[in-house]
Amino acid sequence: MVIAIIKETAEHERRVALSPDAASQLIKKGFEVWIEQNAGASSNFPDAHYEEAGAKILDSKNELLSTADILLTVQTPSHEDLRSLKKNAVLVCFIWALQNPNLVSLLQDLQISALGMDAIPRISRAQNMDALSSMSSIAGYKASLIAANKLDKYFPMMMTAAGTIPPSKALILGAGVAGLQAIATCRKLGAVVEAFDVRPAVKEQVESLGAKFIEVELSEEETETKGGYAKELTEDDKLKQRELIHQHTKKSDVIITTALIPGKPAPVLITKEMVTDMKPGSVIVDIAAENGGNCELTEMGATKNVNGVKIVGPINLPSQLASDASTLYAKNMLALLNLLIKEGELDFDFEDEIILNTTITHQGEIISPMLKSN
Ligand code: NAI
Repeated sequence: MVIAIIKETAEHERRVALSPDAASQLIKKGFEVWIEQNAGASSNFPDAHYEEAGAKILDSKNELLSTADILLTVQTPSHEDLRSLKKNAVLVCFIWALQNPNLVSLLQDLQISALGMDAIPRISRAQNMDALSSMSSIAGYKASLIAANKLDKYFPMMMTAAGTIPPSKALILGAGVAGLQAIATCRKLGAVVEAFDVRPAVKEQVESLGAKFIEVELSEEETETKGGYAKELTEDDKLKQRELIHQHTKKSDVIITTALIPGKPAPVLITKEMVTDMKPGSVIVDIAAENGGNCELTEMGATKNVNGVKIVGPINLPSQLASDASTLYAKNMLALLNLLIKEGELDFDFEDEIILNTTITHQGEIISPMLKSN
């Protein structure tokens, strides 16, 4: 069975789906691994490392696509590349099926069995396949470093012969995987950290990382879905939340926003007025920029200066840590392939909730229950 890897073509994408180490593990199991020339170069994995692992390097992308039994990528390949795959080929990558109905139809028409790395259920058994978590954690880490770089102040308290500098105050909005990693990183850098999330269940996790949890009394009792994700707040609760957050934004040197609601635009947590009331020199890093932003003034892919407040709207943060992001993504892929392939054969066992929920299309049919019920 041929497992193929192509060079990612999306703008700002430096990751590769398989590291040389992961390639070597697949080859030891009896698979052939074919890699497009220079596919790993931007992640610091030269072709020679793949060759040492036993993989074959190809300069013809067409040959690679038309032979592949399984294609592993990070972003969804172009429609043209998908059309080059053979019928019944397996594709594993980020698909975001709900947001891309045309892509799903194409995958059905081409009879490609597509598995979405973004659709892996957030359950304990799937933790080692959970690419959303491994990538979000990198985003939280990198956002903290960007904030530290943009800030004209120290993060930690500094006692010097010339006097003492107090520590910076960081506010983290949204304490999911990215937010918790931002809390941990800002704490390690020495900042005093407070955090807020609509899901009260995260209070304990926030406090265990040494940060203060900001509590808002919401009228809504259930702010969390069965899957553990946040629900959109009522208009009343949004107002309550904004009033309280406003008090904290005034005092913060750094704000990292990470709040997302699946299938909806990112909630606006920081308004124009709040930015106007912030201290000059303070920094907002809006991890939700690609989903519309948690700050009203965020511009995706840009850093703005509004009355001395820097607002950063980063694109594809995991790609900025391409080596480790690719290494972790490859490990997530290996874990999923271990479940999908039994004794060298593909086994689409839809009794298994991981395979069921992750498979978007198979043999021309939509399989994902999330997509079917939408
Ligand atoms: P996410 O990326 O969808 O959202 C980030 C955070 O924003 C969430 O914590 C959410 O509650 C928060 N948020 C949404 N609206 C907000 C608002 N208006 N104000 C403040 N915060 C707001 O979340 P992520 O990181 O993908 O995690 C989703 C869930 O999955 C969590 O419950 C997490 O603990 C769980 N999870 C479970 C895993 C497992 O058991 N294997 C692995 C990873 C995550």
